Amino acid sequence: MRIVAHSDHAAVAIRLEMIEQAREMGHQVDDLGPAEGERVDYPYAGALVGHKVASGEYDLGLLACGTGVGISMAANKVPGARAVVCSEPYTARLSREHNASNIVSVGARVVGPGEARMIVEAFLAAEPAGGRHAERVEMLKALDDQQLDLQILRAMGPAAQS
Ligand code: RB5
Repeated sequence: MRIVAHSDHAAVAIRLEMIEQAREMGHQVDDLGPAEGERVDYPYAGALVGHKVASGEYDLGLLACGTGVGISMAANKVPGARAVVCSEPYTARLSREHNASNIVSVGARVVGPGEARMIVEAFLAAEPAGGRHAERVEMLKALDDQQLDLQILRAMGPAAQS
């Protein structure tokens, strides 16, 4: 798969571990940096990767910042980006299978290099499941397209499903 990776300045080393893991699994990874000592703010890095994945330029994204949180929040501002912060592999796998996550984010101050590699491995080995999970992902996509108002919530709610 075509994968794009980016981080802020707080997570350079862990990003390189994530990239190495993905490459070892046979994926093509483009590294957007930064290099050690170079400053990149997480809102920019997250939104850029969100755009690159949501537009189809890349299949999946790898992100990292201090906690993994800020950069994933930025990515998730982009319609079509479904970024997940993970501190263990189970969430990485399930987020891919159930939520069709397309970007995984880790926190350099939260997980070590081995855990980060296992998270990436689980994320890349998993595939979105079909059936009811796919239907819910379609509901997520609908939220991308519209302002969330009460009408949309009602259409998604239990009454609409009975
Ligand atoms: C940068 O110091 C830090 O705030 C950032 O890497 C990240 O943790 C934000 O969510």
